[in-house]
Amino acid sequence: MNVVLFGPPGAGKGTQAKELSNHYKIPHISTGDILRANVQDGTELGNKAKEYMDKGELVPDEVLIGIIRNRLAEPDCESGYLLDGYPRTIPQADALSDILTDIDKPLQVVLNLDVPDEELVIRLSGRYVCKCGNSYHLTFNPPENTGICDTCGKELYQRDDDKEDVIRQRLISYHNKTHPLIKYYGDRDLLVNIAGAGDINEVFDSIIHVLDMYDLT
Ligand code: AP5
Ligand code: MG
Ligand code: ZN
Repeated sequence: MNVVLFGPPGAGKGTQAKELSNHYKIPHISTGDILRANVQDGTELGNKAKEYMDKGELVPDEVLIGIIRNRLAEPDCESGYLLDGYPRTIPQADALSDILTDIDKPLQVVLNLDVPDEELVIRLSGRYVCKCGNSYHLTFNPPENTGICDTCGKELYQRDDDKEDVIRQRLISYHNKTHPLIKYYGDRDLLVNIAGAGDINEVFDSIIHVLDMYDLT
């Protein structure tokens, strides 16, 4: 199954991708997670990316295209892939198409999680994450014990880019550079809109419903 999970910051891409990856046994590839791991490790790439991420701007295309080309060449992508946070610009989408032709794994569907901006700000400003990859929300998806991850017991924290002014800038970057991909993939008959404003389990059921209709292997 070769899928892009598309949507604005806070749409629920990471939350849904984690479950979908377990359900369909395909790797979840989040460019945001890859960049944050590099920031954490203090790599050259991470130091460069942090300057953009802290301002809510997109990291340059050539950096992301290199990351995704390498990641898609890894053996676990034999079973397919679930991309989260890539592509985010038209040059990234064009590059993806070339990469996928080279590895003979064409994209089958782009799921667009549709959520209004006001809701995105509420979701992001209440988000707490764990180093293990889990994501919680103070109101919508709280952990059993305040501030502690249900799965691994580590302390939860807020992402550096989940401050209100950075959230606003991420939304601006999304509308200017990423939103045009909805038409791009619509024109290629790959886009399916998913109402992303319901609760987490309802959104998951809608996605499964769509993917199961496609009979993707
Ligand atoms: P990235 O990490 O991809 O951030 P993002 O796109 O801004 O998306 P988020 O991870 O913030 O949101 P999400 O959709 O995953 O939502 P989540 O499931 O966590 O990118 C970060 C930065 O890296 C970018 O700004 C850029 O600088 C750089 N970057 C990354 N990729 C790049 C690329 N390709 N090109 C250039 N630069 C790139 O959910 C959010 C919250 O809502 C959580 O609290 C969750 O619990 C809650 N929630 C989820 N679903 C629901 C629901 N249905 N109802 C209620 N609450 C919900
Ligand atoms: Mg995410
Ligand atoms: Zn954890």
